[in-house]
Amino acid sequence: MIPPVKINFYENDINEIQQKITEVLQSGMLTLGKYGKQLEEEFASLTNSQHAISTANGTCSIEIILRCLNLKDKEVILPTNTFLATYLAAKSAGCKIKFVDCEEDLNMSLQQVKDAITENTAAVILVHIGGAVAVDTMAIASLCEDKNIYLVEDAAHAHGSYLNGKHAGTFGIAGSFSFYPTKVITSGEGGIIITDNEDIAQRAKVFRDQGKAGFLGNIHTELGYNWRMSELHAVVGIYQVRRLLEFTQQRRDIAKVFDEKLSNTKFKLHKVADPEKSNYYKYILYLPEGTDRVEFKKKMRENGVILGGEVYELPIHLQPVVKDIEGTKEGDFPKAEKFCSQHICLPVFPGMTEDQVNTVIEKLIQVIA
Ligand SMILES: Cc1ncc(COP(=O)(O)O)c(C=O)c1O
Repeated sequence: MIPPVKINFYENDINEIQQKITEVLQSGMLTLGKYGKQLEEEFASLTNSQHAISTANGTCSIEIILRCLNLKDKEVILPTNTFLATYLAAKSAGCKIKFVDCEEDLNMSLQQVKDAITENTAAVILVHIGGAVAVDTMAIASLCEDKNIYLVEDAAHAHGSYLNGKHAGTFGIAGSFSFYPTKVITSGEGGIIITDNEDIAQRAKVFRDQGKAGFLGNIHTELGYNWRMSELHAVVGIYQVRRLLEFTQQRRDIAKVFDEKLSNTKFKLHKVADPEKSNYYKYILYLPEGTDRVEFKKKMRENGVILGGEVYELPIHLQPVVKDIEGTKEGDFPKAEKFCSQHICLPVFPGMTEDQVNTVIEKLIQVIA
């Protein structure tokens, strides 16, 4: 069976992680210690950011940013084509939600954001779906600046992705990443915030630690939560961050073969604006119109290829829980609805062999025929 994703840890990395974890256990310093700091320093340096703040996951890292920006009861624009976590974080931070459709790059466009902004809009959350930085990121960033609106990036998919020489997550006031196991790099569970804003960096550290003014004291100055990353997770994350460039290159190489061998077939390729700058968190492919996706995926599995989750199967405005709360319905955002219903994501992971790549291609062509 070819899995949809495979988490990759090299043998020598595992050995070093084990040694460091033993050291952490013996030290008794299991959270907010030197490895959390080291992960933050290495991720800040990799993304060319002034500050990085490690967290428990990529959902709370979005929420922490929104709380740092005092966005409770404020209108926040976010795409409907995203993982529910983007919405959950904004909802939990007390924001009023305004959804926006997507364009061909699967993200919000400048025009869509322009059309959605009202005098009440306080922030825009841009998500880089599938790992490629949204095509209109620069334009949306300058629009937000002109209008005095915060731009926040949910870059959960986009470690190691760039646009115009800048890393994902660095285009607005702050960016959030996830280290969930299916992501391009993982710490088991975990997340990280990057920002060049000193106040946000300091406040985020307070929020992630139950709102405590300092690690050792017991004075609470913010309505925070336990959003800390443990040292054990940080150690794992450090070794993955060091593999990021290598992993993304491997993903790009695999994507290139898919592109070459799947063009001129019954499938339609998803166009990535700058393939050399995407991390290919997902390799997205369109099924011919009218194909039953569930049936197609079942047949692929019977042929030894497991196709993983889409990005996403349903846009969030059609998720049952969101429909109930926000009163959204089918037809509200037709582009996202169409995209969500028509695409599949192919297996792509570092260490995927040439044979596995070719088998995926061969089975796709066989099953669709
Ligand atoms: C777009 C997006 N935002 C946020 C998250 C939340 O990350 P986490 O699972 O680490 O909380 C994820 C992934 O799970 C995601 O895909």
